[in-house]
Amino acid sequence: MRGDPNSAHDDGFDTNLSLGDFVVGERADAISPPAGWTEWRQAASWAAQLYQPTMLQSADARTEIEYDGRPHPVINLCSYNYLGLANHPEVIAAAVEALHKYGMGACGSPMLSGMTDLHRKLERAIADFLGREDAMLFNSGFGGALGTLAGLLRKSDVAIMDNRSHLSLRDGAVLSRSRVERFEHNDPSSLDEALTRRVGKRNLVIVEGIYSMDGDFATLGPLLDVAEAHDASVFIDEAHSMLASGANGRGAAEHYDVEHRIPLIYGTFSKAFGAVGGFVAGAQETIEYLRFYAHSYVYSCALPPSNVAAILKSLELSIAHPEARVRLWENADYFRTQVNALGIDTGASNTYIMPLIVGDRGRMYRLGHELRQRGLWVAPVDYPAVPEDRICFRACVTANHTRADLDEALNILEDTLVPSLLQKA
Ligand SMILES: Cc1ncc(COP(=O)(O)O)c(C=O)c1O
Repeated sequence: MRGDPNSAHDDGFDTNLSLGDFVVGERADAISPPAGWTEWRQAASWAAQLYQPTMLQSADARTEIEYDGRPHPVINLCSYNYLGLANHPEVIAAAVEALHKYGMGACGSPMLSGMTDLHRKLERAIADFLGREDAMLFNSGFGGALGTLAGLLRKSDVAIMDNRSHLSLRDGAVLSRSRVERFEHNDPSSLDEALTRRVGKRNLVIVEGIYSMDGDFATLGPLLDVAEAHDASVFIDEAHSMLASGANGRGAAEHYDVEHRIPLIYGTFSKAFGAVGGFVAGAQETIEYLRFYAHSYVYSCALPPSNVAAILKSLELSIAHPEARVRLWENADYFRTQVNALGIDTGASNTYIMPLIVGDRGRMYRLGHELRQRGLWVAPVDYPAVPEDRICFRACVTANHTRADLDEALNILEDTLVPSLLQKA
């Protein structure tokens, strides 16, 4: 049976190899993947079956995915739908209404023809919500990070980034052709060293509100102290923290009461907003400049109006119902405490995102199948997304999970992950 953890389907899977071994091409034709890639993919198909699963319903706390070619009910700890807004009836109704009025696509870049009154309204709503002069929208979060960094940084500048930064930020810095300096994760003295190395340059310090793999907050206060001592500007990616963190949902910057110290805020609509797209908010002159120099804005179609209407409703609901955020944090604290009590290492996580560290590739894929069969959907996270010794599952808790959902998930982990980790120890 495919996916059976006891079957021999992992026979040909060389767990010594990872995606990191197939970056450099050595074939004559640039469109042919590196030698050995196709064979490795075929041998690894048992493991790869855990990726790109087909979801058959909404990204709710319980959903249905395809597994072994059949619909399979799962507890969903794999979704960024932190406040349950992706499937909120009012969000869906707002999208449907806009769909009827505006049609499917915006059919043009915001610069030329894709901007509707809904897009304008959302720009204003985001700027007002965050207390900024202006905001602009991107048709993806990833594109927003790329466009913003490449739109602002120039060749003689330095992007000073936490070494756990998301790839959208790293790629944005590369695209800008600026010099890139890394500092150790959340380490103010390492940031200080990086800034000292680049003294005299235009430095932009780039941090995330919550780190998407480790699930820990940026240590914003101490990092900002260092940035300010060097007169460096700061850009924060609040992808996973916006709406879901901070007393009013204004992210990690609000959580640490440092909003006034961060001039440029970026976020995505694909996480707690339950939709898709990105935004950047800041001083009017910065945003006005970016409207002309962020290529992913100027040369790419505006968000579908129905999606924009849904985001507006999500924002409204998140403001009107802070209790969803409270539930999210209660669920996160409960689940992390119970997982830790089982002896499972969640690293530095102090949020609703938590790695369940396995630390061994073959074991992780075997357990991944076992968990999925048992009806628990967690994300497999392999190198190079995390270091080899921190290969893990990532669990995301949401406001919509009931205690019964979380307890059932804990039971499954106790039956599967715990004995396996004990064996290792
Ligand atoms: C920290 C961070 N920044 C940016 C992005 C890109 O956002 P999107 O998925 O909305 O394109 C992600 C996506 O997961 C992320 O985790």
